[in-house]
Amino acid sequence: MADRTLVLLKPDTLQRGLAGRIISRLEDRGMQIVGMKLMQMDMDLAKQHYAEHVEKGFFKGLSSFMTSSPIIAMAIEGNNAAAAVRACMGETDPQKSLPGTIRGDMAQDLGRNLIHGSDSPESAAREIAIFFKPEELLSYERDTQRWITEA
Ligand code: RTP
Ligand code: MG
Repeated sequence: MADRTLVLLKPDTLQRGLAGRIISRLEDRGMQIVGMKLMQMDMDLAKQHYAEHVEKGFFKGLSSFMTSSPIIAMAIEGNNAAAAVRACMGETDPQKSLPGTIRGDMAQDLGRNLIHGSDSPESAAREIAIFFKPEELLSYERDTQRWITEA
């Protein structure tokens, strides 16, 4: 069943110029971008988004990294979108991620793992609402003939 999930391309993705390649992998899987913005995460947003981690020891490093330079937030639509995106991403720790996954192919470090994906449909609904107003999410049919102009 088609549903939606939140993807964040983290600061290391933009610093390393990998945004296009990572977006392509999600598009290659057949997933559709329904919301997208370049933005700067601030500490309030980091606390809201990573609420489950605020009390953990790694939150200081995580939040300082996530606020260090711009990110791209995307709402992605596809079949079982949260699980499908997580499968494309690989494990949290790139060292444990298989080749063929985004983290397994492009990252080395737990704290610089390029991409966030919601961990469940419930998290996806909560997180999409943090980053997007309803009117910023667009539903559209893909028209494979639209690049041909009508005479
Ligand atoms: P994300 O939320 O960013 O998609 O990553 P995830 O679900 O795979 O992992 P999660 O457990 O939610 O952790 C969020 C981010 O915090 C960093 N982390 N550091 N030092 C540590 O033990 C530790 N554990 C997690 C990672 O960068 C992870 O992506
Ligand atoms: Mg997570």
